[in-house]
Parts: sequence; C-alpha cells; structure tokens
Amino acid sequence: MKQIYLDNAATTKVDDKVLKSMLPYFTKRYGNASSQHLIGQEAKRALEESRHIIAKSIGAKDDEIIFTSGGTESNNLALKGLFFSHPEKNHIITSKIEHDSILNTCKWLETQGAKITYLDVDEKGFVNIKELEKAISSDTLIVSIIHGNNEIGVIQDIEEIGKICKERGVYFHTDACQSFTKVLINVKKQNLDLVTLNSHKIHGPKGVGALYVRKGIEITPLAHGGGHEKGLRSGTENIPGIVGFARAVKIANWKDVKKIKKIRDRLIKGILKISNTKLNGAEGEDRLCNNINICFNNIEGEAIGGYLDANGICSSTGSACSSNTLKTSHVLKAIGLSDIQTNTSIRLSLSRFNTNEEIDYVLKILNKIVRKLRRISPIK
Ligand SMILES: Cc1ncc(COP(=O)(O)O)c(C=O)c1O
Repeated sequence: MKQIYLDNAATTKVDDKVLKSMLPYFTKRYGNASSQHLIGQEAKRALEESRHIIAKSIGAKDDEIIFTSGGTESNNLALKGLFFSHPEKNHIITSKIEHDSILNTCKWLETQGAKITYLDVDEKGFVNIKELEKAISSDTLIVSIIHGNNEIGVIQDIEEIGKICKERGVYFHTDACQSFTKVLINVKKQNLDLVTLNSHKIHGPKGVGALYVRKGIEITPLAHGGGHEKGLRSGTENIPGIVGFARAVKIANWKDVKKIKKIRDRLIKGILKISNTKLNGAEGEDRLCNNINICFNNIEGEAIGGYLDANGICSSTGSACSSNTLKTSHVLKAIGLSDIQTNTSIRLSLSRFNTNEEIDYVLKILNKIVRKLRRISPIK
C-alpha cells in the first residue's frame, strides 16, 4: 500500500540530496575535525562551511552557532546554561504551550532554585504580550517562548517579544525547531539572544541541532570534555549529520513554503466541510505552513489515527515526542479544549513532498472514517 506521510511535525524524510551530501563523510572524509592531518582538516572545513550556512540563514555570525544533538539538547543548554552562569537572577518566564524539552527543563530547574512563570495563551494559542511584560521583574533572567508550536502551529510574534526583552534587559530564547526555514528568523532584527534549531524537521538527519548564542552571552556547558564548540558542547562533532543539516537548510526555500501553505489550506477547507469539526489554533499567516490540527468532537483521535494508518495515511494525535507517555495534550488544554475535545483531535503535518492528489485521497478516506466512527461512537 502507498504510504501518505502527514506526520512531518514529528520528523521528516531525509531529502535524497541531503543524504548524498552526507555519504562521503562516513567513508572518505571521515576524519575528526580536531585532527591536524589532511582528512581531519577536510572534516574541519566541512564543519565550518556548514556553520556558515546555518549562521547566515538566521542572520547570525559563524561563531554564534553551537552544534548539538538536536532540539532537546539545545533547549536544555539554553535554559540550564544561562541559569547556572547567572546566579544573581532566578526567574524564568515561559508559556504553557512549550515543547516538553522546555517544560521539563523548567520543572527540573525549579528543584535548583528557579522560579518559573508559565504564561497562559488565548484560544488560538497566542501569548498575551502585555501579560508577558507584566511578568518581567528585576529577578527575571530569561524569557523562553516557542516560535512555531509543534501541535497547533501557532506562530508567536517573536519580534515584539524580542523588543520588550531588550528594553527590559532580559535574555530572550526561542525554540524554533518547527518554524526554522518556514518562517523568517533574523536574530538581529528580532532581538533574539538564543535560538534552538534542529535538522530532522527540515528533511535533514536526526540527532543534529544547533543553538544560536549571541556573542558575549555566557552560558555554562552541560557536558565537560575536550572543549569542542567553544567549550560549550564537548564531544567529537557529528560531521555527516552537520553537513546534512546545512544541506537541508540550503535546499529549503520560500517557494516550497507557499506551495505547502496552499495544500494546507485545501486540506483544512476539505476537512471543515465534514460536520462538527473545528480547526484548533490560529489561521492563515499566523499558522505554520505545514500544520493542521482538527477537533472531530465526538470521535476519538486515536481511532481516527488507527483507521487512517490502516489506509496508508500517517497522522498523529499530538506531539510524537510525548506520545509514549499517553498524556492529554497540554497545548490543547492550554487553548481551552475540554478533555473530550483534546482526545477527539488529530494533527496532520505536511511537507514539500505532499501532493494535491494525496490530499484528495486523504479527504475521501477521512470522510468515510468519520461517517463510520460517528455511527458507532459512544461519545455524544
Ligand atoms: C518545538 C520542538 N522543540 C524541540 C523538539 C525536540 O527536538 P529533537 O527531537 O531534535 O530533540 C521538537 C521535536 O519534536 C519540537 O517540535
């Protein structure tokens, strides 16, 4: 059976060109970037070229990019790193719709003496900028707000938040794993101090990410060792992964974003024609180009996902990263959905590889599934 992959917010297919760019670094140019010989120096060159590509894509300087193992590590390094290097301040502001790698880091930091403010969001998922401003005090060290949300796709106004943080003298970190290459990021224009990026959401390999750290900001490393990555992330660099990450960034373009948005809107329009359905989150330009999250009201998301899977369509009932904990979505709860509504919602997330023909098939199957499940659903 042909597979239609609509779970690109969980992870993406590695682009063939990305894979091709990585292969020589496994078998021919496999050197350690710290070695002085030719093969080592080839690896070093590839590392620095990749750093340049990623830095340039967000308007940063090369030496402001620290390579990590992915979004989770970058988020941990940003928050713990800042917290431990600034003992004079202990207040962190974040939101209730962050990824678990921020929320659980904050929870742990509470055991280390941090005071955390978890900001509410409105019914579309937006942080209230006035409330954020009010929450800043003389103890506030960091504001950490997700750029594009992984479950409902809402895009926060990071430029406005960055402006406020700069005026009030607090650091601003944003988790841009889902928005990177889909929404413009410019660290200077948007006053960003730290930015989390990863590769496997943009058709790059898994296990690679980066943290942008504005020049002059001190952070404490999580791992100590040989002093790689300016001493902030010791460990032999994953050169094939980093090369693939940079290649994925180079391939990404705004034309594809436009195309994906069109497919997204077509799919949303088609699904909303099914009775008793509702789009969770924001609309249009305030939503990630590839995100759809729909509440079907009286049929379980898990059941819809199971039937979609049986028909070759991969979907998700929320964040893949927390699906093994089987908890109700904290994001859908934060935008005011009831327990029943959160459990009757599914996420479909697109990529540049999806086609209009696939969308037609998905709509046909979805209509069938919903009709069938509504007949037998115990939820009224
Ligand atoms: C918004 C967001 N932040 C962080 C992460 C974690 O990234 P990684 O899987 O690279 O650790 C993810 C991945 O699901 C994400 O969507």
